[in-house]
Amino acid sequence: MVSIDSISPTNKKVLVRCDFDVPLTNEGEVAEVFRLEKSLPTIKFLLASQAKVILIAHLGRPGGKVVEKESLAPIARKMTDLLGQEVPLIKEPFSEEATKKFANLSNGEVILLENLRFNPGEEENNYEFAKQLTGLGEIFVNDAFGVCHRKHASVVGVTQFLSSFAGITLVKEVDALTKVLEEPVKPLVAIIGGAKIETKLPAINNLAKVGDSVLVGGKLLMEEISGLPKVTKPIDVVVAKKEGEEYTQVTVKKIGELNQGEIILDIGPATQESFLKLISGAGTIVWNGPMGLFEDDRFAVGTKALAEAVASAHGYSLVGGGETIEVLEKLNLIEKIDHVSTGGGAMLEFLAGNPLPGITALERKIYE
Ligand code: 3PG
Repeated sequence: MVSIDSISPTNKKVLVRCDFDVPLTNEGEVAEVFRLEKSLPTIKFLLASQAKVILIAHLGRPGGKVVEKESLAPIARKMTDLLGQEVPLIKEPFSEEATKKFANLSNGEVILLENLRFNPGEEENNYEFAKQLTGLGEIFVNDAFGVCHRKHASVVGVTQFLSSFAGITLVKEVDALTKVLEEPVKPLVAIIGGAKIETKLPAINNLAKVGDSVLVGGKLLMEEISGLPKVTKPIDVVVAKKEGEEYTQVTVKKIGELNQGEIILDIGPATQESFLKLISGAGTIVWNGPMGLFEDDRFAVGTKALAEAVASAHGYSLVGGGETIEVLEKLNLIEKIDHVSTGGGAMLEFLAGNPLPGITALERKIYE
């Protein structure tokens, strides 16, 4: 993988794959700038180098058709603010008008193409679509770690046609995650929470292999995850019953003593104490996923205690996943984390030890 800042892209039309998949407010404006801010080092480097910058990205899962509420228009507005220069949105990137615009791009100009996933060719990694996209640029840069686990046209296909480089944030992501898996300061303590056991189990298994303990919490506990070596499940949990939309009969129980209909919504105090001890003694901490239903204050205690412990721990800390970042931001602790990953699913795939197609594609390329 060669970083874009190791070459001089002056005068070149550079196609930059960004991860602009961010939550929007009810009014349709950007609600969370974390991923947008992470795209700035590469874009600013290109603009300062007098390149012509064409940003490409997706938002949501429109399924290969135009879904107006998943337009990148709010992203173009927010990027205009963040960069302090106009970022126009090109709605029809392959129209005659757009072709003219591309031909007349000036050095130091930046534009954004409409949501790639409005075209079915993107997710199909369609050869023609990838070729069409690459026709717009002379160099390709992937700075979208969050989609590197997707074999899509703008992630993998394009690298077949253009000299391809890694963006500055992508390089940082790969370095940080590789360090954790290959040369962590020991003991390595991983904390995995949240839901969707099928997306977390491969990472739990691999972290148990390379690490010293994997602390598990959150909705995952409702699934069967016992019997894995080095995996520590809570001793006690906060449970409640769901009546309609309400959680009632909130109580702390030992993990083996749950009654029918009781749902696990947080880790209990004894678990908190033992998890905190492991975190404070760790040389490296990896965290993805809350310990419970943190949106409800009654069930946020465990997640908050962990967030504070990770932020103040002496060990190297690497955190990822939308909800985990949200908790740290709410508590003003994000600055205290050594590496905050932009990837959700991509980070889990990486931690599972699986090669990511977007990264493999950059490694395989023979650069000029
Ligand atoms: C993400 O939000 O994690 C990435 O942008 C990938 O999105 P996807 O899961 O819809 O492919």
